[in-house]
Amino acid sequence: MAKYKIAWLPGDGIGKDVMDAARIVLDQVRLDAEYIPGDVGWEFWRTEGEPLPERTVDLLKNTDCCLFGAITSKPKDEAAQELAPGLQGQGLVYSSPIVRIRQMLDLHTNLRPCKAYPGNPLNYRDDVDLVVFRENTEDLYSGVEFYPLPDQVRQTLVKNHPKMARFAEVPADEIAISLRIVTKNGCRRIVHEAFEFAREFSRPTVTVVEKPNVIRETSGMMIREARDIAREYPEVQLWETNVDAMAMWLVKNPQDYSVLVSSNMFGDIISDLCAQLVGGLGFASSANIGDDYALFEPTHGSAPKYAGQYKVNPMAMLLTVKLMLEWLGERELGQRLEEAIAGVIEEGRVRTYDMGGTSTTLEMAEAVAGRL
Ligand code: NAI
Ligand code: MG
Repeated sequence: MAKYKIAWLPGDGIGKDVMDAARIVLDQVRLDAEYIPGDVGWEFWRTEGEPLPERTVDLLKNTDCCLFGAITSKPKDEAAQELAPGLQGQGLVYSSPIVRIRQMLDLHTNLRPCKAYPGNPLNYRDDVDLVVFRENTEDLYSGVEFYPLPDQVRQTLVKNHPKMARFAEVPADEIAISLRIVTKNGCRRIVHEAFEFAREFSRPTVTVVEKPNVIRETSGMMIREARDIAREYPEVQLWETNVDAMAMWLVKNPQDYSVLVSSNMFGDIISDLCAQLVGGLGFASSANIGDDYALFEPTHGSAPKYAGQYKVNPMAMLLTVKLMLEWLGERELGQRLEEAIAGVIEEGRVRTYDMGGTSTTLEMAEAVAGRL
């Protein structure tokens, strides 16, 4: 029996292209793993009314970790229109499988490293080395939303908060509410992960990115817990920035920052900004980590216009594989893979379209494999 059981979920669009690239590299390093394919994504929404079938949930529960490509998501009404005729009109509502997996398996930490590799023509600067820790289960992604606004919900809010008075008369179908829910436990877990990382890799600072001057209660809780946890790590400095200012600072002097920690929505936005500093979505890897399971996926989506063309950059996925190897405890393999990736980037001979080249997804993966 193989040492590791890995759920293999290509999903939609270029998810399949980049997973093929991942396989080339994994086969080259002869990871002792069994890769078990699973169904997820748009095709299963259309044909089964469920983008995350129960059999796939079972697969996740019976594997060590998951490698995930990308999925296509569309707004509610559009999603409903694309259902197979037999499934229409049953009130089926599309919800993102990746968000559901994160919550269902309590994968609380979204880790997004953004490092500029020497020789990458897309680097904004060559000295950027950021690691974003994004809370992954709460905040605006909690999914507690109202539209049209039920009367009872509104009355409760009006009764309990004076600032709700100005929304008291808006017609129910002209007002929508999405709740930003955070817990002390959620804040502490993500800040703790960020500081543990800083300690392990001798990072000088952890910057907590929020907006407590305006969003007093939720951002306020994050800042309070961050200050409390920071006391356990005297060797690491805690910096605090507002998310809007952070966007500016990250363009002005990204090299001054090291580890960033934020809630789900702000972390999502900031990490895309960070990704662009080091070459864009073709280089952005990510890990969704829980206490005993993890799912690894590149940050990019399914990029439908490139699906099946083997044109996109596999580096985001290959760097994601590196995160998976490290999480599995195969640190040496992970390091070798990163060196091979860095070598191919620095040499600059094999480049996909986004880097100004004409190489294919698989040629790039083979170039990396050739250095392993
Ligand atoms: P996207 O990330 O799929 O693509 C946006 C653009 O970025 C592409 O058109 C391409 O120009 C570039 N790009 C993305 N990956 C690249 C790569 N590996 N190499 C080179 N260039 C790359 O985002 P978009 O177009 O907003 O969304 C497409 C679909 O993906 C939507 O249905 C969206 O909901 C979904 N999505 C899924 C995610 C996931 O699976 N976790 C994350 C983001 C979007
Ligand atoms: Mg995103």
